[in-house]
Amino acid sequence: MDVFVSELMAKMTLQEKIGQMNLLSVGADVTGPVLSQGVEEKIDKGMVGGLFNVWGPSPVRKLQQRVMEKSRLKIPMIFGYDVIHGHRTTFPIPLGLSASWDLDLIQRTAVAAASEASADGLNWVFSPMVDITRDPRWGRVMEGAGEDPYLGSQIAHAMVTGYQGQEKMFGTDNVLACVKHFALYGAAEGGRDYNTVDMSRQRMYNEYLAPYKAAVDANVGSVMTSFNEVDGIPASGNKWLLTDLLRKQWGFKGFVATDYTAINEMVAHGVGDEKQVTALALNAGTDMDMVGELFSNHAEELVKSGKVSIKQVDDACKRILEAKYKLGLFTDPYRYCDKERARTQILSSDKIALSKEAAIKSMVLLKNDKNLLPLKSGQKLAFIGPFVKDQGNQLGSWSGAGRSEDCVSLWKALETAELTKNCSYAKGCSIINDAALIEKLNRDGAHLAVDAKSAQDLIDEAVETVKNADVAVVVLGEPAAMSGEASSRTSIGLFNNQVALLQALKKTRKPIVLLLMNGRPLTLTWEEQNMDAILETWFGGLQAGPATVDVLFGRANPSAKLSMTFPRNVGQIPIYYNAKNTGRPFLENSKYHSQYLDVSNAPLYPFGYGLSYSQFEYSDVSLSSPTMKAEQSLNVSATVSNSSKVDGVETVQLYIRDLVASVTRPVKELKGFQKVALKAGESKTVSFTLKSHDLTFYDSELKSIAEPGDFKVFIGGNSRDTKEASFKLLAP
Ligand code: NOJ
Repeated sequence: MDVFVSELMAKMTLQEKIGQMNLLSVGADVTGPVLSQGVEEKIDKGMVGGLFNVWGPSPVRKLQQRVMEKSRLKIPMIFGYDVIHGHRTTFPIPLGLSASWDLDLIQRTAVAAASEASADGLNWVFSPMVDITRDPRWGRVMEGAGEDPYLGSQIAHAMVTGYQGQEKMFGTDNVLACVKHFALYGAAEGGRDYNTVDMSRQRMYNEYLAPYKAAVDANVGSVMTSFNEVDGIPASGNKWLLTDLLRKQWGFKGFVATDYTAINEMVAHGVGDEKQVTALALNAGTDMDMVGELFSNHAEELVKSGKVSIKQVDDACKRILEAKYKLGLFTDPYRYCDKERARTQILSSDKIALSKEAAIKSMVLLKNDKNLLPLKSGQKLAFIGPFVKDQGNQLGSWSGAGRSEDCVSLWKALETAELTKNCSYAKGCSIINDAALIEKLNRDGAHLAVDAKSAQDLIDEAVETVKNADVAVVVLGEPAAMSGEASSRTSIGLFNNQVALLQALKKTRKPIVLLLMNGRPLTLTWEEQNMDAILETWFGGLQAGPATVDVLFGRANPSAKLSMTFPRNVGQIPIYYNAKNTGRPFLENSKYHSQYLDVSNAPLYPFGYGLSYSQFEYSDVSLSSPTMKAEQSLNVSATVSNSSKVDGVETVQLYIRDLVASVTRPVKELKGFQKVALKAGESKTVSFTLKSHDLTFYDSELKSIAEPGDFKVFIGGNSRDTKEASFKLLAP
């Protein structure tokens, strides 16, 4: 590769090198505010290194042919796309998938997405999104793995490996991954997209950076910069971030692409004019300019005037060519344009089955009074709500090539399972009935409408339907367009018209199962008090309908656990389990302690929480020793029993707390988890091995250390309800 790339680069003009650093958008998908113009002529001149938003063996082949036939050096282009949770076979949204805590499953979804995408002309996916998120107002929480650095890191690793495979050279069914958004994008102030981020290095190193680092450790081939600033310097122009941290400290060897027009946006950030920000980006270590074309417009002049060294451009070009080499594009530029593979791989039955499995394993049972779920045979059921027959929203945001016609709605699945004879249906309400909001969402591609019937008529119909049933299953939530990019909200409850429906149904005194479809943690305080059962299904992808039927009727037992805290109200945000203690932690009936006057500090549903149709009991935690020496390990175990009559799977979670350290440490930190299958009545001892590495943190000098002293260790089925034990880390 080294020889090939350096021989090729020896033939390249400065302009051609800069051309490799230019990434343009073509095709029907709009994923940013401007569209690339004059793409074909630029390809002919060798001024385009890659394209995105176009896929399919024929369209991609046609564009690749252009560069191979018309450009001087015939350097194949790389083809990228936002393959975020599956390609054509859509899986649950990443936040949902992360709730499975099932790394093998998550990796298999990435393998399947890579297989489909690579059969469909693509060789580069803008995934995984690993931004730690603690603010559910931010619409992009749906794209990530939630709030925890440990779980997020494991998932980042699984996804990168799933996409890229384990080999240095990519197979035809692998794609180059792009971890994003580097860095700290999840911490946008107020949860408003694209907003400012300001964070101490302590918080960065200890809480936010780990998942990006995990992706780098998994050999991710590319990194996408974030829109936000880091330490007052926009990420795409931040040399500390992109060179000192990413390349020098972490040893990243791939290429850095910006997010969409992120270099141009540095002008609005206020760090210079177009030329200045281009120089900043190049000198910071940015290799590829997404859509903004500032490299194309200014890099040559900047090199000639000495503001940017030729080495900077050479390094960038080299990294991009190396990625193309590893993808095998120099051997066969059409390697990913195989119609036969497209025919056999896209929507193959194994992928559709995987989509269903993933949807089941992502559903979180939030409440289940009197074991209302699973539904019992012979019950008369009223299915109520605008999502029951809806066949598009289940794809969720960032569903890329996913199509609503491939989806199976809940009602369709009931029909297929021949369950509708005991079921009635009423729509109950529109998804949203705020005309101004609908107009805004539809302008950007949603298909929402207020029902022709009045809100009251819809409710009346639903009430009548429920009166004639034994149990109501009410399917409510957000439309897909309410989460994802540029989809922040200030209130994150169910819409008023949906709540009005629930309030009316409550008066029937029939038991109600609330089934949720949404892209973020919602505030469900009233619903928790008034509904009998609540099942969070997120946006489950193509097979959300059949998966929901399986869970509702007990053919599958829910086992997912929240990867992000659900607050009681928006005023509690940011709220996350791994918080610091403060000098005045909450104390019952004592005023001058950290608390609100109106609402408890506790979340509605904590991180790691999720019920099952089984009941799990935990015995006391036992340790192999009360002390641990550095470089030794400690065995931590507990017995977990399934005390119910139903087989199930429990996610056993291990947390630690470092009680005294040179910098303050969180009250709990996840350090391990295991999914354990337990038959009815079965008990198992679940053991974890704690190593001193698990006790490390970044101190005030940002050195990773484990400080001797007292620790607590907790085991439980969520971050709140745990059993604990103590041990001491001895000085070496
Ligand atoms: C902007 C988004 O922030 C990013 O995640 C995405 O990959 C690009 N647009 C390309 O669509």
